Amino acid sequence: MPINVLEASKIFELRTKNSSYVFGVNENGTLQHLYWGEPVEAAECADLLRLRHHSSFDAEVNREREEYGGWGGTLYAEPCLKVKFQNGVRDLRLRYEGYEVGSRLAADDLIVRLHDEYYRLRVELRYRVIEKYDLIERSVTIVNEEDVPVRIDQVMAAAWSAPAEPSVRLTHVTGRWAGEYQLRRAPLTEGKKVLESRQGFTGAHANPWFALDDGKADELSGNVWFGALGWSGNWKIVLESSTFGQVRVVGGVNDFDGAFTLGPGESYTSPVFTGGFVSGGFGEMSRKLHNYQRDYVLPGSRERKVLYNSWEATEFAVNVREQIELAKQAARIGAERFVVDDGWFGARHSDRAGLGDWQVNPQKFPNGLQELIDEVKRLGMDFGLWVEPESVNPDSELYRNHPDWVYQFPTREGTLLRNQLMLNLGKPEVKAFVLEFMTGLLSTYDIAFIKWDMNRTITEPGAIPLREHAEESVWIKHVDSLYEIWAELRRRFPRVEFETCAGGGSRIDLGMLRFADQAWISDNTDARDRLTIQEGFSYAYSPSVMMCWVTESPHGLNGRRLPLSFRFHSAMLGGLGIGANIARWSEAEIVEANRYVALYKQVRHLVAEGDLYRLASFAEGDVAAWQYVSRDRDEVAVFAFRQAQYFGDTELRLRLQGLEPDGRYRVEMPTGAVAAGVEGTNGNAADEHTDNPAAEAHTGAVWHGSTLMRLGLPLTLAGDYASRFVYLRRHSVT
Ligand code: GLA
Repeated sequence: MPINVLEASKIFELRTKNSSYVFGVNENGTLQHLYWGEPVEAAECADLLRLRHHSSFDAEVNREREEYGGWGGTLYAEPCLKVKFQNGVRDLRLRYEGYEVGSRLAADDLIVRLHDEYYRLRVELRYRVIEKYDLIERSVTIVNEEDVPVRIDQVMAAAWSAPAEPSVRLTHVTGRWAGEYQLRRAPLTEGKKVLESRQGFTGAHANPWFALDDGKADELSGNVWFGALGWSGNWKIVLESSTFGQVRVVGGVNDFDGAFTLGPGESYTSPVFTGGFVSGGFGEMSRKLHNYQRDYVLPGSRERKVLYNSWEATEFAVNVREQIELAKQAARIGAERFVVDDGWFGARHSDRAGLGDWQVNPQKFPNGLQELIDEVKRLGMDFGLWVEPESVNPDSELYRNHPDWVYQFPTREGTLLRNQLMLNLGKPEVKAFVLEFMTGLLSTYDIAFIKWDMNRTITEPGAIPLREHAEESVWIKHVDSLYEIWAELRRRFPRVEFETCAGGGSRIDLGMLRFADQAWISDNTDARDRLTIQEGFSYAYSPSVMMCWVTESPHGLNGRRLPLSFRFHSAMLGGLGIGANIARWSEAEIVEANRYVALYKQVRHLVAEGDLYRLASFAEGDVAAWQYVSRDRDEVAVFAFRQAQYFGDTELRLRLQGLEPDGRYRVEMPTGAVAAGVEGTNGNAADEHTDNPAAEAHTGAVWHGSTLMRLGLPLTLAGDYASRFVYLRRHSVT
């Protein structure tokens, strides 16, 4: 049973396949977290409900483990809820009131009700058990049943308590533009570590995901407690380790500059904070999160179309003639979708003007956009378009007509970032404008795909409140409106796919992924840098949403030269796109690219639906390797990369994972793929003729799963920036 309530001892157990999550009501009537980890007998946790006193300075040690603690009394840990009642009282005492399961709820849902011991402020803790993935979704609803307003200073979605371990370690990601999703791992010593965004969007500096372990977990083994918050605006996750060895993770919408008023009868519901426990290391954690996203979070289809995007080829210099040329080449390569990026509208000749004027530019498209769309469709592709609806250039008709639509403070000059200002999406007329122009675009043209960008942070977050005498959070309103717009567009245009982009990968989280089919994870398209960025991304997010493009060599960002093979293999790890100026590619490059695209189409179901195993990382050496296995364990795709070769070492054995030990796996070309040249090359084709072909993963070679997992798949990777792709299929023994 996913939810067990032990009435007599007032203990609740949320039971997943491989974990128990236990809390109960103590003698004071407060809800106390008891245990989270490998399954235990919930009833035997009762002893932990006992109140513990240490000294008058640490009066109630247990308060640090409250399941959802309000700020008041001796709770000095990061609170879940901090309020100010109208009479000035700022002390909250949440007491257990009751619970609800079954009847009007789904079988795996539980609501626990708390209320303040004096004021009619009700708190509903919601739990949903995702049994098969060992996950629990949590959120909270605060209801003001007073006759007067209550100010909410801080309201977190949930608090997670990890068991006391002698040395707790935190894994998270950090980054910046063109360097998102850099993995970091460090001990969590006494005190607080705050991961957050105050920028108005999820941000590249941090991402709302964390993992805790006892300092010993690795990719393959060890206990890991983790969580991911679904909020795409200002968020905060506080990881706090107390002097009593307790570790508590509190997360939700950032309270910074975020206080708001709940009027009489009003309520607030937090975003969902999903937490999980695994005993199989970081690899298992990621697979649980990936499967969860695919089955519960993502809105549409998982399989990504191969797209071509003309941004890096033309930047703002878009014109119909060149776009058609690019489209012809893209079709020859095998692209299924042609996307026109920034520069197609208004006076958008650079990033200095035109943003906000969403009319097709008549000089660039004298016969309208449909001419290009018709050509793209004739070539057998569908059509996609870039938009950035939340921003405006001051040099635009939109801004000239509506200077009051941007966030602003009356005495301040607005900060320009990329020459643009942010629109106040909380204003009903701005929200209506965005919905209207998007609806216009999507109903006028045959558009299958929208790349929705946001290229700046929010500054001067001034807005006139819609309700008098009520404090509102501009930050929350922006995100609420954004979600409402996306939800409405998806409802109106169910066949259109959407990509979330924010100057690269600055707005990807479980909140956005409820609406977005795919995500642009970084403007850095250098295939080597990308492997590091993609690895960090894969810790929390599914490769099925991870868009990767093959672009030019030498690369515009760093001048690095990489073989086409390496660039393709790196981009095939997620949703494959091509973003190079293919009008200038040689015939040989087009033919080679076409082979990779054909190959990708044969294996992309593994990327989209299979299990990911990270076999080797550039963080630890010169080889990186990723493996995708179909859920029935019949098909395997291995991608291996060497960034630098030293001292003549070319051979390696890659220990695979997740195979059927007794199954016999044969190296093959996936059905339908053109064989020649796509198995892998380092650009010098040195690995095409290895000295020792018998030991090499050549077509036809057969091994048992046990051999591949224990001894490893033999591979030759010769030279710098060599890469290989190997496909194996399980055969029944005859
Ligand atoms: C952002 C995106 C890019 C591209 C440009 C266009 O930087 O991340 O992919 O769309 O905007 O201006």
